[in-house]
Formats: sequence, structure tokens, C-alpha cells
Amino acid sequence: MIPESFKQDLLNRVDIVEVVSRYVRLKKGGANYLGLCPFHGEKTPSFTVSPTKQFYHCFGCGAHGNAIGFLMSYAGLGYVEAVKELAASAGMQVPEAAPRTREEALRRERETDLYGVMENAMEFYRAELKKSPRAIEYLKGRGLTGEIAARFRLGYAPDDWQALKAAFADYADKALVECGLVIEGEGKRYDRFRDRIMFPIFSARGAVIGFGGRVLGAGEPKYLNSPETPLFEKGREVYGLVQARAAIRAANRVLVVEGYMDVVALAQFGVGYAVATLGTATTPVHVSKLLRLADELVFCFDGDAAGRKAAWRALEVSLPLVTDAKPVRFLFLPEAEDPDSYVRAHGRDAFERAVGEAQPLSAFLLGQLRAQVELGTPEGRSRFLSAAKPYVQALAAPALRLQVAKEVAALAGVSQEEAERLMELRSGPIYAKPVPARGAPPLTVAQERNLLRCVLARPALAAELDRSLLDERLPETGALQALTAWIGTGGAANEAAVIERFQGTEFEQIVFQAQASLLEHGPDGDSAEHQFRQCQLALRIKRKNEEYEQLKRRAASGQPTRELLVELDRRARELAELKGQRL
Ligand code: UTP
Ligand code: MN
Repeated sequence: MIPESFKQDLLNRVDIVEVVSRYVRLKKGGANYLGLCPFHGEKTPSFTVSPTKQFYHCFGCGAHGNAIGFLMSYAGLGYVEAVKELAASAGMQVPEAAPRTREEALRRERETDLYGVMENAMEFYRAELKKSPRAIEYLKGRGLTGEIAARFRLGYAPDDWQALKAAFADYADKALVECGLVIEGEGKRYDRFRDRIMFPIFSARGAVIGFGGRVLGAGEPKYLNSPETPLFEKGREVYGLVQARAAIRAANRVLVVEGYMDVVALAQFGVGYAVATLGTATTPVHVSKLLRLADELVFCFDGDAAGRKAAWRALEVSLPLVTDAKPVRFLFLPEAEDPDSYVRAHGRDAFERAVGEAQPLSAFLLGQLRAQVELGTPEGRSRFLSAAKPYVQALAAPALRLQVAKEVAALAGVSQEEAERLMELRSGPIYAKPVPARGAPPLTVAQERNLLRCVLARPALAAELDRSLLDERLPETGALQALTAWIGTGGAANEAAVIERFQGTEFEQIVFQAQASLLEHGPDGDSAEHQFRQCQLALRIKRKNEEYEQLKRRAASGQPTRELLVELDRRARELAELKGQRL
């Protein structure tokens, strides 16, 4: 947990223009800086960075965020990593919640040590590779150049029970066991990796956190991996990310393959945007991490039964995470081929063509579902509907969900309405957007958006907001209330902090859109105050006018009492006075 106040300080201290400039060429244009958007391909710059508001917005693809968000999306860092990175560049120390116990303090110190141990081991294995003609021959035999081996920091663990003694002054150090490099058994210690080609696994920040070791030739197990350690959690990491990052960005695509060698061989053949899961099934952490890096995610599996099973697992994990803007696709290679053998046999162009033709998630989903049932009978069609139900329900991308529901309906021979009812879709997220209730449609949405912009531009206005004027049916109202309440408790030091507050909440879209339009059209400062007051005045007049008209109708419908007539008169004067305040 990073303290809220620290985040605010940090966002005040760093300059987003400086942060973004490290990665994207920016040019001054008016009050803002402009550049080619790093999150989608474009030829004319629509990526805007505001030095005063401390956020970026792309008018082309809608990418939006503060300095923390930029590092997360661009560099693929996790939240805490991004904060640490920013803090380091600003010369600030992230106040880790103080260790509560002595053990915790020791554990933390240890962790820092463990990174050093892993780094040291990697350098040792690399040096050993240079000394082993046999290992070099093996890699050459697999078509790898020295250059690629160096890029992936490949190494060799010698055929020796205690080879690491040469790399560590204290072979008895507990850290070696904690890192998974040394195994302790029956009072003896020995190296985990012996006579294996070593593939170091890097974290997103580029620290060595684990190894995969392959036998040279035949032998069991073919790959030996580091165990889970304080540094290494398999379900969170992918192999090859550090090396693939630039290519992922350039291609705007990530390819997920099954093996270490697949990643390395593809890179050797010029397909640099591949990463591999680490001998584990695809996890939600994998998918959400990778979807942040590019607009397109392609899973590539071997064409065998195991490959299909792994693909289905990846599909299940992806359903709640895909968005309409970021499709997920599946590529199945011919039986008995893997990416390594395929690219070697057919070349880069053929491989990339296959990737380009990979099945969309919806096709894979529907194809698998219909393969299990007989659509020629009513029973089969019903089974199909109930089999499809949990998958369609889980699909988060609203437009895609609608399309898939349509296809399910067509295949099941029912109307779309019926299919949606049977699959109980209407209550799901797609329809969850507050639909205006019966009665007058809210005409005040433009005004509420305007109020939101004004409060963002001048947070002090939050205190003046008259909530009774807002239309409860509008999500803008919820956003305004959340924003003003937060400002009331001391939030909203700047726009970057606003992003921090609303990221991932139900009001994210509304607030981010308001910020973006503020960037383009203002208002700022004093004119925000003026607009805010005029806008509230307009809403007040509208409200008073409605009440006045209602009373008038009541008076017209029967014998008005004297009180009613007096009230009407009072209200007419009040309205005239309000209208007089308009400028
Ligand atoms: P494969 O058996 O498909 O190997 O395992 P591969 O990638 O084609 O390897 P080469 O081409 O024979 O060298 C795919 C992945 O499954 C994990 C590894 O991550 C491997 O890259 N695996 C496989 C293990 O962890 N242990 C094993 O014994 C085998
Ligand atoms: Mn292989």
C-alpha cells in the first residue's frame, strides 16, 4: 500500500512532459505538447500532453492518463513498479509501510539480496556458455546466432554438482536455496541446474527472477524451471517481454507462444513480438498485462489436443478482459508443428501471414461450442444455447457480446431477443448503463458536463455545487457528486490526481472525457467560474420554470384558491429576477 498523500506529492513533483519525452518525441503546440501517439499507429500527431494539467490524452484513440498511467501502459509496468520508477527519477523514496515485524524487515533486505544473487548466477552461466563448445554447438544446431543468444542472455550450467561454488564466495548462503539455484537435501547442497542451456527469465523491469534450463539433446525433464521464489511467481510473468517490448509497440501486437525456444527462434527470424507463458496455463494476470501493451493479442498454440485445451483455457481467461478496441485471436499451427519449427520451415512471411489470419475469439468460441452438439435437433439446439450461456455472459466487450449473441441466436434458431432472455443477458454489464426512466428525457446532460468541466478546471467551485439541480438519472450526476465529495475531503490537488482517483471506477469514462474536452476547449480559471455560475443559473431557471408551469396548469384546471394565485405571482417575480441575472 502506497500512502495517498505520497501519490499526490509524487504527481505534483514529476513533470509528465519530461516523463513522456523520455519515450516519445514531443513538440510544443500552443499550451500543450504534441506527438505521435505511442498507443496506436498514426501519421499526424493527436497525442497531447498538458504541462499544466499533468495528463496526456490522445484524440485519436482515447488513451488517457497521468504519469503513473503512462509508465504502466507504455512500459508495461505494474502500478507499484510505475510509482517506484517515477519516484526514483524524481529523487523520492517510496515510503514503504514500515515493516511490522523483525521478520518482515529481514525478508525485505533478503529480497534485495536475492536479485543480486540471480544476476550473479546469470553472468556465471553466460560466461560458462562461452567456455563450452558443446553448448555452443547445441544452440548453433538449433539455428541460433551468437547475437540472439546474447540478446536473450542465454547461458550454460556446467555438468557439475556444485558449479555455483565458483560464482559465490559463500556456497552455504541460504539465499542460494531461496532463489531456487541450489537444492538442499540430506545435509548436502547441490546445484539445481546441471548440464543445461539456461534461459533467464526477466521481470518487466528487467531483473532476473528465474531460469528455465533445457537439456542438451534427450533427457527428462526436457525443461527444468526455477521453483516459485519470493521473486518469481509463474502465473504473473511471461518469458521474453523485455526483449519483445519495442517490437510489440512497433507491430501493435503481442503473440503468446508456448515455449522458450519458440520466442527465441521467432526473434531470430525477425518476429520480435512473441512472449511465452512459463509452462503454466494462461492466467488473467498474463492477459491483462499483455493487453496493456498492444491493441491486438494473438495466442499461438500447437495444433494438437493439448494445444486446443490450452487455447480453450486462454479463451476462458480472456472473455472478461477483452474490449471491443482490443481483439484477441487464436492461431493453431498444423499438427506436430510449433512456432519454432514452423518459422524455420516456412520462413517469416508465411508465419506472419498465418498470424494475420488467426481466428478471432468469437469464431473459436462458437466453433468449439457447436462442435459439441447436434444443431439439427431441438434438443441439440437447446443444449447449444445453455452451453453458450456462461461464455456469452462472461464476455465483457459490449459490442462483441452483442454480435456473439446474434450468432448464437441464429445457430440456435431463435430470435435474438429470445436468445438474450434464455442466456439472461439483459441484466449483464452491457445493459447496465443507466437508461433514462420514463418521463421527460434529461435535457440537462450538456449542462452537467459543463459543470463537471468547470469543477475540474477550478476545484474550489465544488463548494458551490447545488446538488438539488442535478438529474439523478444521469451518470454525470454521480460523477459530479463523487468529484465534489472527494474535493471536499481535500482531494483534487491537480488533474493527475483526479485521474488517480477515478481510474477504474464507474465514472472513469465521464471524467476522462471531461478532462479531454477541457484540454481542447477549456474553460480555465476565471472563465470556469463564470461558466459554472451561468450554468447553474440556467438549471435553476429551468427547474423553477417547470414548477411554475405546473402550478399554472393546476390553476387553470379548476377554481384556483387565493393562496395559489399569490404563490403564482410570487413565483413569476422570482423567475423574472433569476432571468435578469443571466448574462
Ligand atoms: P515443449 O515440450 O513444447 O517444448 O514445451 P518446446 O518449446 O518445443 O522446446 P524445444 O523446441 O523442444 O526445445 C513448451 C514449454 O513447456 C514448458 C516450457 O516452458 C516449454 O518451453 N515445459 C516443457 C516445461 O516446463 N518442462 C518440460 O519438461 C517441458
Ligand atoms: Mn519446439
